[in-house]
Amino acid sequence: MKDVVVLVGTGSIGQAIARRVGAGKHVVLGDLKQSAADVAAEILEEAGFETSTIAVDISSRESILKLVEHAQHFGAVKNLINAAGVSPSQAPVEKILQVDLYGTAVLLEEFGKIISDGGSGVIISSQSGHRLGALTEEQNFQLATAPTEELLNLPFIKSITDTLKAYQISKRCNVLRVAGQATPWSKRGATINSISPSIIITPLAADELKGPRGEGYRKMLAASPAGRAGTPDEVGDLAEFLMSSRGRFISGADFLIDGGTTASYFFGDLQYLKATH
Ligand SMILES: NC(=O)c1ccc[n+]([C@@H]2O[C@H](COP(=O)([O-])OP(=O)(O)OC[C@H]3O[C@@H](n4cnc5c(N)ncnc54)[C@H](O)[C@@H]3O)[C@@H](O)[C@H]2O)c1
Repeated sequence: MKDVVVLVGTGSIGQAIARRVGAGKHVVLGDLKQSAADVAAEILEEAGFETSTIAVDISSRESILKLVEHAQHFGAVKNLINAAGVSPSQAPVEKILQVDLYGTAVLLEEFGKIISDGGSGVIISSQSGHRLGALTEEQNFQLATAPTEELLNLPFIKSITDTLKAYQISKRCNVLRVAGQATPWSKRGATINSISPSIIITPLAADELKGPRGEGYRKMLAASPAGRAGTPDEVGDLAEFLMSSRGRFISGADFLIDGGTTASYFFGDLQYLKATH
């Protein structure tokens, strides 16, 4: 039996993280598309990692429970990486909420029951959630702690009709949910954190850059403090730190990695975006 790393969402960001924490462990690669998991497995196996694949739909608790069972078959689950998601240009409102909001909450809940002592998890949220206006104290509390099965029925979630808003609230919920789960995860000796990246060059980002909001995104990148998009490896480096022995005093926290775009959006050259986003 080995320590097990579970990666859900086997795209470039997820792979970059798995490469940094997966050496000597068994890496479970789960994705909605079996083909995406298989491609990741081939790349990782050729780089010396031990892997297995499984098709998983995080919007289904049943599917997540099968993933948990599959992972435990190889040993104690030491790390969870959630890099699965759909973007505002890829899916309708209901789908975004089911995958990005509800699916992440179920993953946190189910893996929080079995994560092993000394373990850690990272959830990929988004800078997009930081642009949403303030929620009420009550709404924050509900998103952090409401029973998972009640989340999609909260009135302020049910009334969302816009895909960008659905994505932003899902990503805000990820951050709050991580904070809410820090206590149950700590009782098993594990840490859990989220990372909120801005545009990172991956196929998902490429869809966004080609989508209806593409031109705005390109202009935003040019005017941002870093003047460029990020790379999956930069997110991987941050996740590695959080999941390493050096990150043991960090839990329930969110980390923006956005080349300064959020700061600029509120206080710098990107303030012009406030009228449109
Ligand atoms: N790329 C960016 O610019 C960027 C920025 C901020 C946040 N993010 C977030 O990072 C995460 C990973 O994005 P990426 O850019 O690597 O995208 P990607 O499309 O390369 O990877 C996402 C993966 O999630 C899988 N997936 C989709 N729905 C799923 C489901 N229901 N169950 C299981 N798997 C599912 C897809 O099949 C895909 O392989 C997403 O949550 C995204 O919102 C990305």
